[in-house]
Amino acid sequence: MAYPYQIRTLDQYHQEYKRSVENPEEFWDEVASNFQWKKKWDKVLNWNFKEPKVEWFINGKLNITENCIDRHLASMGEKPAIIWEPNNPEERVRIVTYNRLHKRVCQVAQMLHNLGVKKGDRVCIYMGMIPELVYAVLGCARIGAIHSVIFGGFSAQSIADRLYDADAEFIITCDGAFRGNKDIPLKSIIDDALIGNRSVKKVIVYTRTRTPVSMLKGRDVWWEDEMEHAEHQVEKDGKVYFPAEEMDAEDPLFILYTSGSTGKPKGVVHSSAGYMVWTNYTFVNTFQYQPGDVHFCTADIGWITGHSYIIYGPLSAGGTSLMFEGIPTWPDAGRFWDIVDRHKVNILYTAPTAIRSLMGFGLDPIKGKDLSSLRILGTVGEPINEEAWHWYDDNIGKNRCPIVDTWWQTETGGVLISNLAGVTPAIPSWASLPLPGVQPILVDENGNEITERDENGIIKGNLCIKAPWPSTIRTTYGDHERCRTNYFSAYENLYFTGDGAMKDEKGNYRITGRVDDVLNVSGHRLGTAEVENAINMHAGVVESAVVGYPHDIKGQGVYAFVIFEHLHSDENLTRQDILQTVTRIIGPIAKPDKIQFVSGLPKTRSGKIMRRILRKIAEGDTSNLGDTTTLLDPGIVEEIKNGRL
Ligand code: WTA
Repeated sequence: MAYPYQIRTLDQYHQEYKRSVENPEEFWDEVASNFQWKKKWDKVLNWNFKEPKVEWFINGKLNITENCIDRHLASMGEKPAIIWEPNNPEERVRIVTYNRLHKRVCQVAQMLHNLGVKKGDRVCIYMGMIPELVYAVLGCARIGAIHSVIFGGFSAQSIADRLYDADAEFIITCDGAFRGNKDIPLKSIIDDALIGNRSVKKVIVYTRTRTPVSMLKGRDVWWEDEMEHAEHQVEKDGKVYFPAEEMDAEDPLFILYTSGSTGKPKGVVHSSAGYMVWTNYTFVNTFQYQPGDVHFCTADIGWITGHSYIIYGPLSAGGTSLMFEGIPTWPDAGRFWDIVDRHKVNILYTAPTAIRSLMGFGLDPIKGKDLSSLRILGTVGEPINEEAWHWYDDNIGKNRCPIVDTWWQTETGGVLISNLAGVTPAIPSWASLPLPGVQPILVDENGNEITERDENGIIKGNLCIKAPWPSTIRTTYGDHERCRTNYFSAYENLYFTGDGAMKDEKGNYRITGRVDDVLNVSGHRLGTAEVENAINMHAGVVESAVVGYPHDIKGQGVYAFVIFEHLHSDENLTRQDILQTVTRIIGPIAKPDKIQFVSGLPKTRSGKIMRRILRKIAEGDTSNLGDTTTLLDPGIVEEIKNGRL
């Protein structure tokens, strides 16, 4: 059998789960022995959630790229590792075999080495969804540099903040990226981000869109030139070789920035070995991957889902990962189904927001598309509503493909709670059961476990995890204390997810959404404080408060209440100015859907904004706003209510 740790029956799931909780060290020792190590670990696990300190496979040595590429070459060298579907369906599809991937990754590693990149250096990657992005990521991993991929929708200011926080010395980017009918000038955005930057030494630019770019002498180099030079260096006697750096199990593999409840995004750090084991284990089990399957994860590699389930999970399993450069609605809303048909996709993993948006186009875009290759469907990123779940099940899976609802986070590295496709039961809108090794617990405000059930047998509480799994967040880059206060200090000895959840009598979990000041807009995390900071940058803004409200397609929309100094007679123009400001500071993904101008905000006497009230107003539920007597100016609530958009 291809994956000895693949769980195939419900009974086996229960046995494995029990074993993983009763004897985690033995359990993960066994799983980890299926990988390629340069030196075996001395001990499986060391941990305490107080500091926090989490270490897996202590003193083990490895390189993740040998596990994702080299070990597959002998038996699968000519098998496709990546199938690349370009934005423009007329452009040529690219099939990257494991041999080709090996060569390109060795070349990138050599190129980085030539440019002075060393183990531990931070390399920021800001590229579109092209195979070169995967080569760049794995090239970094090959020489032990820490990659930090930044999603193409972030602004120059956001990039500048991340470069500064990571103290990055190298950038890999493209002249531009294609997205639907747009061409995003990535290099030009990087140039803006670099104004005033002191750490970046080299910028490598790959040509994708042929957008004119300015190349700064001494700093900017062309990928094509450097790669050509590197090609001669890695090829000897018809063989390709570049040594994979020996990494400690706990050496950081990458940084990925994500939003929290404070104004500044955090650089989540994942380790080399634990992350590898977990993304592989969860990929093989959740999706029940079989050798030869074509796995299509529609996420962008700029987010954790792309890291774990386009690159590391599938490739470490010797799988075929389909990567798509475009958007689901261009040239028309049948794009996903064309891709499934053309490439005979077996596993489709997407976000509820994409499903809801495609539902809006009706069934015409599906007509005539052969979806019979599909075997398994998945969702990620936000709770899926039952209507979208059934639409997906009826029209895409034709009621014969199990749907996995996978709950996890940037910080968890891979899936923690999900049914296993066709092995454990699927329940619409429930993420269902924890993966082996995951011990969820629901607690009250004080961190006490809730055991009381309501009349339907349901427990509701804040979702925490009791013990580490291999890809637990290790730290927040450059600020370990921040990691502690954000995730490990709310409740003693527990990892706090920031999500609320329900649990039924059979132990199934249903995620109800964030309980902190984090929004989930189209499956993207946004901190309300982060959006407020951006709005407040506009010269005329005195103060603002941002909350989420239910949105038919995005899941949550962004509702901003803004106090503006001298409101222009044309309120809409001011709104446009604010949107422009947010786009500049964070990026288009953070633009508020609604901006209501107000003369004040509901505050307590100590000056705290009562978001509970604003949330209710934004949701349109104004019948019972709760106790407003403690407000500094209770009259303001009436005004805001009447001005609701
Ligand atoms: C939410 C994405 C319900 C949740 C992998 C979590 C979900 C946040 C689900 C993490 C799901 C993710 N059901 N909610 N299946 N998956 N979430 O870091 O609120 O971008 O805390 O990671 O998305 O978002 P992140």
